[in-house]
Amino acid sequence: MPTIVIPTSPFDGQRPGTSGLRKKVTVFQQTHYLENFVQALFDVLPDARGKTLVLGGDGRYYNRVAIQTILRMAAAKGYAQVLVGQSGILSTPAVSAVIRRHGASGGIVLSASHNPGGPDGDFGIKYNVANGGPAPEKVTEAVYARTQQIREIHICDSADLPLDTLGNYRIEGMQVSVIDSVADYAAVMRDLFDFDAIRKLLASSFRLRFDAMNAVGGPYAKALIEGELGAPVGTVVNAVPLEDFGGLHPDPNPVNAEDLIAHLFADDAPDMGAASDGDADRNMVVGRKFVVSPSDSLAVLAAHATLVPGYKSGLAGVARSMPTSTAVDRVAKSLGIACFETPTGWKFFGNLLDAGKATLCGEESYGTGSSHVREKDGLWAVLFWLNLIAVTGRSVESLVRGLWATHGRCVYSRHDYEAIPSERADALMRDLRAKLPTLAGTTVAGQSIAMADDFAYTDPVDGSVSRKQGIRIILVDGSRVVFRLSGTGTEGATLRIYLERHEPEPSRQDLPAQEALRPLIFLAETVAQVRAHTGMDQPSVMT
Ligand code: G1P
Ligand code: ZN
Repeated sequence: MPTIVIPTSPFDGQRPGTSGLRKKVTVFQQTHYLENFVQALFDVLPDARGKTLVLGGDGRYYNRVAIQTILRMAAAKGYAQVLVGQSGILSTPAVSAVIRRHGASGGIVLSASHNPGGPDGDFGIKYNVANGGPAPEKVTEAVYARTQQIREIHICDSADLPLDTLGNYRIEGMQVSVIDSVADYAAVMRDLFDFDAIRKLLASSFRLRFDAMNAVGGPYAKALIEGELGAPVGTVVNAVPLEDFGGLHPDPNPVNAEDLIAHLFADDAPDMGAASDGDADRNMVVGRKFVVSPSDSLAVLAAHATLVPGYKSGLAGVARSMPTSTAVDRVAKSLGIACFETPTGWKFFGNLLDAGKATLCGEESYGTGSSHVREKDGLWAVLFWLNLIAVTGRSVESLVRGLWATHGRCVYSRHDYEAIPSERADALMRDLRAKLPTLAGTTVAGQSIAMADDFAYTDPVDGSVSRKQGIRIILVDGSRVVFRLSGTGTEGATLRIYLERHEPEPSRQDLPAQEALRPLIFLAETVAQVRAHTGMDQPSVMT
């Protein structure tokens, strides 16, 4: 099984986005498409002798094929060992946990997260570094540069390995260990949460419904929630990862997880609903007839963190992506801890977590996490909520209302305009950027603009600067509209408009968000001419 060298030539467009390289499965199926990208990565990484690589994915279509190829290429690169999840399964947070617990030099995650799967769906690949977190931009940019010059693929000419069985195998000098997909992750959770308290809660009349959306969260939730924590069988639904997610769009928000929402709004609703996405790093938490916004979820966890064993000595600080609501800023202020505002994407939290500047992080896009790994973590968030409910005796709704009573409500919504032709989306952003210098101090659509800019971030740890991270228009009363283009889509461009307004007055906190945000929606249309640019009358998705 010697290493063979296969000549190749570059593909356009292999630049990783917000979270790795994501393309249609059919794009990845082109001869050498995956190999080129993996080779570019291996060319950029230092010598692999003596090193361990972690490898796994969310089980979507093409996962198994890609894993066998990457194993053969890892052997050619000279890794001493690859730890691969059984049947090729590892959630994104599990990869992070395995890298950290085994001292691996990095890991490859095969996933397109919440994007649909199957032969006509999406596939993706991303690299995580030794701290367990997504590779920083300097690495992803170097990989991209390499994809543009690639000429050779180095691969071992070896047979497929039986990845459904735990055990050790060899490809040339490299050991392949097929590991239990859940064990390392479960150990991390056991260290953080009060499992006895959660066990008691789940043995009481409290009922939970966890929808794994036919994606990779299923095996983890089954093992922990139904297995170790004793919830009745059937608590976790859609628990078997399917290659096409059973046709579901495994993106936990009230639009895509409509079945879960229907259960939680029924008269015999369970006390809490939860869902995770394709690779199980996102989460949605729902109370009985009560939807929790991800920004509020982060703020609630921060406010009560010291009730959870893993965080009992307090939080060093918190961090949120810029478009995420300022609810957590208000909590941080009252706790007297720092709050960092970063660009969108989990990779920007890595340095803050490594430097001990932040303990909890979150994004409006249903992502929450902490320093326990270097990825967002869906099941972790659900266990955190269960732990809080168990020790406070309060419901999901009561915990959120408590936040609003103390800090006011940050009314929040995101409007997505999907599959816009890229030229149109670029023109919208270009026109908006051109207006920025003149907006501050003016009144548009009846609203006084205090400041308007294109968000730039200087990493407080390594000083690196990221520009053009979203256009923000901030009103005199602190309300905000943020515009940015998605970095994870695979069809045309997606425009995201984020809307936030602070409502201190309790009697107005129950207004439906779209109603409360109407003046901001009008402002967004007036400033950016969204309809004219996109040719769309309304957003494709509002969450
Ligand atoms: C989206 C979310 C972002 C998240 C990323 C990966 O990126 O908005 O918060 O980190 O997915 O899950 P976007 O498509 O907006 O670039
Ligand atoms: Zn995800």
